[in-house]
Amino acid sequence: MIGQPLSIQGLHKTYPGNAHPVFDGFSLEVVAGSLCAVVGVSGVGKTTLLNCVAGLDHWERGGITIGGSPVPEGPEARALYRRRHVGLAFQQPHLLPEFTVRENLRMPLLIEGAVPAAAEAWIGQLLSIVGLGHLGERLPGQLSGGEAARVGLVRALVRKPALWLLDEPTGNLDPATAEEVFGLLLSLHTDLRPTTLLVTHNPGLAERCMRTVRLG
Ligand SMILES: Nc1ncnc2c1ncn2[C@@H]1O[C@H](COP(=O)(O)OP(=O)(O)OP(=O)(O)O)[C@@H](O)[C@H]1O
Ligand SMILES: [Mg+2]
Repeated sequence: MIGQPLSIQGLHKTYPGNAHPVFDGFSLEVVAGSLCAVVGVSGVGKTTLLNCVAGLDHWERGGITIGGSPVPEGPEARALYRRRHVGLAFQQPHLLPEFTVRENLRMPLLIEGAVPAAAEAWIGQLLSIVGLGHLGERLPGQLSGGEAARVGLVRALVRKPALWLLDEPTGNLDPATAEEVFGLLLSLHTDLRPTTLLVTHNPGLAERCMRTVRLG
């Protein structure tokens, strides 16, 4: 699925019980392999958009396709779609507390079977890219918020997914660390070329993406 365009057409989404829709005919075309910043005020629907593209949420009308194939229907097909093609990172990393950092990163690979030596090397590489090479044996409870966020970010990328959906991946970090992690993210993006939606409240970071989509 590498290098596939993302197309959102006429999306209508209203949360049950809410008077107003989050999306009322929203459309977006994202060029294959591009890095697209998603910006807009709090509550405008950035996370909802990522959840829909990830198949974690439902919408009433409209379509979302990746490389021309619609986001599948049904929980099992959607879980498989996410596992195979989507790298998702939220501000809250939801690491498995009883497993070390390295085990948390190995987890997405273990689902498919044994983890080859090359993958172990890749995990080590990813950890050092975000400056956590020395923390692989720690438990998530022994990390700072920013360190845990960085582990959550690289966990999303460990399978080299074709589609990255990153919800404020540097939101938990101090400005200098955010800058550094963002720079590393850009270089990983250049290497792997996934189609990417990156939610950020930081205009400086949005400016450095290939394109900015403003919601609202
Ligand atoms: N599960 C839910 N049930 C009902 N309403 C929801 C739910 N999740 C989000 N909303 C509402 O939908 C709208 C969009 O929320 P969303 O989380 O997508 O905003 P956002 O742009 O990501 O905001 P932020 O920048 O604060 O993260 C908001 O008005 C929010 O209150
Ligand atoms: Mg949000």
